[in-house]
Amino acid sequence: MNTAGDRVPPPAVSPDAAGFPADFVWGASTASYQVEGAVSEDGRLPSIWDTFSAEPGRVVAGDTGAIAADHYHRWQDDVALAGELGLRAYRFSVAWPRIQPTGSGAVNASGLAFYDRLVDELLAHDVVPWVTLYHWDLPQTLEDAGGWPERDTALRFADFSGHVAAALGDRVHHWVTVNEPWCSAFLGYAAGIHAPGRSEPAAALAAAHHLLLGHGLAVDAVRAVAGQARIGPAVNLYPVRPEPGHPGAADAARRIDGLQNRWFLDPLLRGGYPDDVRADLASVTDFAFEKDGDAAIHSRAVDFLGVNYYSSLMVRPSEFPGSNTVAFVGTGRPRTAMGWDIDEDGLTETLRRVHDEYGPLPLYVTENGSAFDDVVASDGRIVDVGRRDYLAAHLHACQLAIEAGVPLAGYFVWSLLDNFEWAEGYRRRFGVVHVDYQTQERRVKESGAWYSAFIDRHRRAGAGRP
Ligand code: FCB
Repeated sequence: MNTAGDRVPPPAVSPDAAGFPADFVWGASTASYQVEGAVSEDGRLPSIWDTFSAEPGRVVAGDTGAIAADHYHRWQDDVALAGELGLRAYRFSVAWPRIQPTGSGAVNASGLAFYDRLVDELLAHDVVPWVTLYHWDLPQTLEDAGGWPERDTALRFADFSGHVAAALGDRVHHWVTVNEPWCSAFLGYAAGIHAPGRSEPAAALAAAHHLLLGHGLAVDAVRAVAGQARIGPAVNLYPVRPEPGHPGAADAARRIDGLQNRWFLDPLLRGGYPDDVRADLASVTDFAFEKDGDAAIHSRAVDFLGVNYYSSLMVRPSEFPGSNTVAFVGTGRPRTAMGWDIDEDGLTETLRRVHDEYGPLPLYVTENGSAFDDVVASDGRIVDVGRRDYLAAHLHACQLAIEAGVPLAGYFVWSLLDNFEWAEGYRRRFGVVHVDYQTQERRVKESGAWYSAFIDRHRRAGAGRP
């Protein structure tokens, strides 16, 4: 393991390993399209991300996930690495177009076999598998039939989820239904900057509803065949702050918080969409996508909530004449290479808010991490102090939430490996392990070595506790 840490100054803010419960889950996350590559192997057919990334101008530098981190071939080495780092859990997603290449019908046994082997290998290394069922790679055939704005996609997703759970549920006990439905719906169908690249606001709201419905149906489908399943969704949450001293900023913050956070938390955990946001959206949709009985499905009791946290937002009303839109404003805080504010206090705030307003419910940070421009030194080391300090500060933020009584049970860093960062392609690196895309060589970064040492400190601290 890289032990560069002794020559690098320690993080300014450090968590205390003894401040986490003994059974706290230390993990790392990835997603199928971002790491696997092998897009045409063993019967896989295109997903919306294959199609989207092949269109000129959609992804920086024309990058695609065709090879990515070649995890489909290097999975044994990657699992061994996860084990060496001391990870207790690894969250990965199952590519729907490997299991049902056209999104419905018979299971493709050779596609499923990949995940079957992966699960066994993880268990052999004492790493607990956490399976995400939908991390954005919708089979293209389903998009051709209308995609997530069509109700049938939710039914197809439940069917797919049941197949995966039937095959893996004897060994996989932790399931995430949908990852960041806000991104799938609003970036994919309204902003058009993620696959499938549509800019249709009404369709985006229908997509959000069907992702939530699909989540609830998948909860039932997984539980029906996997008796020990613990299952929940993963949502991306942000504190939304009004610009101080700006008239109207409080209402702008209410609206963005409504769309970003409450539009997902409320139907999942309170049974219905928030009335104020419904009113805001009345000119966009007539909500005809809502059917009797849906609320009971999308608010199915879950075993946990996955929180993906990266940053916070500050807003005020846009000054564009006659517009009622919102402007996102700079705060002057340091930022990552994505241009996202570094705001670890926002993580404590988010966890406390979810617990206070929507709990009690076990929480996991299912993603948290940062992109920085890594430099590989002549000796091969990657001393990514920025990423390490981000990680340390955010673990400290988790510790503060736990001390405040939040039932936070685990943390998954995004990401184990550098990978295909969606519309940003390969230029943004989030891994605690570096990937050389020419050779596919993996090298543990300083951040990965620090995380590994911290997990080890926690293990040793836990051993002494009752
Ligand atoms: C999240 C996604 C994940 C990754 C990180 C940086 O929104 O869930 O796949 O791209 O952002």
